[in-house]
Amino acid sequence: HNIEKGIFQWSAPSNIALVKYWGKRDDLGHQIPANPSISFTLNNCKTITSVAFEKKDLSTSINETNPIDYSFDLLFEGQPKEEFKPKIQKFLERIAPFMPFLKDYHFTINTQNTFPHSSGIASSASGMAALAMNFMSIEKALNPEMTEDYFYQKASFLARLGSGSACRSVKGNLVVWGNQANIEGSSNLFGVPFSGKVHSVFENYQDTILLVDKGEKQVSSTVGHDLMHNHPFAARRFEQAHENIDQLIPIFENGDLEAFIKIVESEALTLHAMMMTSMPYFILMKPNTLQIINAIWKFRAATKIPVCFTLDAGANVHVLYPENVKESVLQFIQSELVGYCQNGQYLCDQIGFGAATL
Ligand code: PMV
Repeated sequence: HNIEKGIFQWSAPSNIALVKYWGKRDDLGHQIPANPSISFTLNNCKTITSVAFEKKDLSTSINETNPIDYSFDLLFEGQPKEEFKPKIQKFLERIAPFMPFLKDYHFTINTQNTFPHSSGIASSASGMAALAMNFMSIEKALNPEMTEDYFYQKASFLARLGSGSACRSVKGNLVVWGNQANIEGSSNLFGVPFSGKVHSVFENYQDTILLVDKGEKQVSSTVGHDLMHNHPFAARRFEQAHENIDQLIPIFENGDLEAFIKIVESEALTLHAMMMTSMPYFILMKPNTLQIINAIWKFRAATKIPVCFTLDAGANVHVLYPENVKESVLQFIQSELVGYCQNGQYLCDQIGFGAATL
């Protein structure tokens, strides 16, 4: 198909890892994880991106000194945003070998997030996933016979090249990324929806994100992943991630939240332990992160309500709990945890289903 111009628009959510991706196999290519990970897809925290494309005049835009020019304009919330361009240029260069049509078009990318952009919530997973969906839609317009499986698999593959964890923001509510022997179809190259049985207690599972520190990330995830090279505990940690996913498989089926909580909280603390024991070393938690964790433990012990926390590579706390205890947990958050949040800010989210076309 020969298409002159068009426009697509997709939304893609953020995701929160239960078993964390931390460390890459740089010997195997871009963003190949050193261990498998599994995440909850979020619902409300998302990026909405449109990509308009128009054929360029190749006779003027391509020559020997400028063999490939990925030409694009970038708008963030409708305004030109030069600072974001190098990241997108790099993404286009990475996906170009898999999308030969890129050089034929000029793109206008218009993107926005549903969450405040200086909130300390990383937008790279949702942003790269939304972008990947749009480029797949263009590819599908040019090759309409492609299957839906191929569409989503390749979209996740492309998103991974933008930001590793973005490959878990494409399709499914629980998503596995990375080779895991007992999960059929799992791959280092793209995320796949978890295909095992999932107990109803995980339906509409809640994630309330407490914004403890909205500052610039102290350690970029690129630098963070790099710290796992020559890390004294790396080999054992990578094995542990496999073991934790193994243990989660029956837990998803039987809904044993006590066992679920042990693995999820241990994963969060292990991620931070890896950063504290690397060279150079970092503490990414803030005093209020610890206050919140202690308050959650105290509340759980006193009430037996199955609420737990997880962390990303930063100070914010994700509070995870089943929908049937939402009222009491929100009350607890409002009365005891909001005081530890920067400007009292928190975001209410829950498990979602992945990218959607608009
Ligand atoms: O996708 P990246 O390279 O930004 O790495 C994300 C790493 C963590 O968020 C800390 C863990 C994870 O699995 O999402």
